[in-house]
Amino acid sequence: MTDLPMVVPAQGLPSRVRIHEVGARDGLQNEKATVPTDIKAEFIRRMAAAGLTTIEATSFVHPKWVPQLADAEALFPQISGIEGVDLPVLVPNERGLDRALELGARRIAVFGSATETFSQRNLNRSVAESLAMFEPVIARAKASDDDKVHVRGYLSMCFGDPWEGAVPVRQVVGVAKALLDLGCDELSLGDTIGVATPGHVQALLAALNEAGVPTGALGVHFHDTYGQALSNTLASLQHGVTTVDASAGGLGGCPYAKSATGNLATEDLVWMLDGLGIETGVDLAALTATSVWLAEQLGRPSPSRTVRALSHKD
Ligand code: HMG
Ligand code: MG
Repeated sequence: MTDLPMVVPAQGLPSRVRIHEVGARDGLQNEKATVPTDIKAEFIRRMAAAGLTTIEATSFVHPKWVPQLADAEALFPQISGIEGVDLPVLVPNERGLDRALELGARRIAVFGSATETFSQRNLNRSVAESLAMFEPVIARAKASDDDKVHVRGYLSMCFGDPWEGAVPVRQVVGVAKALLDLGCDELSLGDTIGVATPGHVQALLAALNEAGVPTGALGVHFHDTYGQALSNTLASLQHGVTTVDASAGGLGGCPYAKSATGNLATEDLVWMLDGLGIETGVDLAALTATSVWLAEQLGRPSPSRTVRALSHKD
C-alpha cells in the first residue's frame, strides 16, 4: 500500500488548484443526527491544519429548513480566529446577511437554481423571485469600497434536475449571467444530483465563455452520485477551471434534492491532483486522518475511496 501517488504531470492543466472545501456545510447539512457544535468546530480546525484555506463553515438559513446548521451563531465565533483561512457562509436573504455580518463573516454565498422546481423547493421562490431576494444582499455586501465582502454565487441543477430532467445549457447560461450581473465575484456551477458527464461539462463551460463569462470567474461543484465527479473535474481543469469544490471524506447531499449524494471527496481530488503534480497546499495524510476521525464521530465509514484505501489497516 502506498501513501501518495507517483507524480506524472499531464499537458494542458493548471499548476495550482484552489479547493473550496464544503464538507462542514454541504456535507453536514444532510446528517440526520445533530452533530455537536464542538465537533463541527474541531472538524474545521483539523481541515485548516491539513492545509485547506477556503472552508465553507455553515449557513445562515432558516433553522427550520436546515436544522443541522441551526447552531451557526454558536459555531462561527469558535472558528473565526483561525489564521489564514477564509470561512464562507451561505446566506439566502437579507436576514441571513444580517446574521452573518453581525458575527464578522467576510465571505458569503448566495445560492440560486437553474430550474424553477428546485428554486421553489429550496428557496420557496421562483428563479426571478430568488434573484430579487439576492439583489439587496449582494448590493449591501459590495456597498463599501474599502470593506467589501466577497460574494460567491452558487447555481444548482446546472446539468439535470430530479423533477425537470435534463437542463438545457441555454437556460443555465441565462441564470448564470443574471447572478454575475448582480455582482457575484465568482460562480460555482452545481451538479446537485451528480448526473453530469465530461462532454456536458465542457459544453456548458464553452457556452458560458461564449456568453462573455471568463473561466476565471467559475468554480465547479460536483456531487458524485454516478461516480462521475472526478472525470467531470478533470474535464473542467482541461478547460482552465482552477477552483474546485469538494467535501472532506465525500460527505454530503442536499436535503431539498432527492437523489443528491455526497460531493466529490476532497481526498479523491487531492490524490489525483498530487499525481498530476498540481499544487493544492493540502496534506493528504492529515486530511485523511481528519475524515477518519469525523467518520468515527458520525458512526459510519467515509464513502471516499481514497480515505478507505489510505486508512486500511492491513
Ligand atoms: P421562507 O419561509 O419563504 O421565508 O423561506 P420568509 O422570507 O417568508 O420568512 C419567514 C420567516 O423566516 C420569518 O420569520 C423570517 O424572519 C424567517 P417570522 O417573521 O415568520 O418570525 N427567516 C429567517 N430566519 C433566520 N435566518 C434566515 C431567515 N430568512 C427568513 N436567513 C428561505 C425562505 C430562503 C429563508 C428558506 O427557503 C431557506 O432557509 N432555505 C434554505 C435551504 C437550504 O439551505 N438548502 C441547502 C443549501 S443549497 C445546496 O445545498 C446546493 C449547493 O450545495 C450547490 C449544489 O449542490 O447545487 C449550494
Ligand atoms: Mg452541493
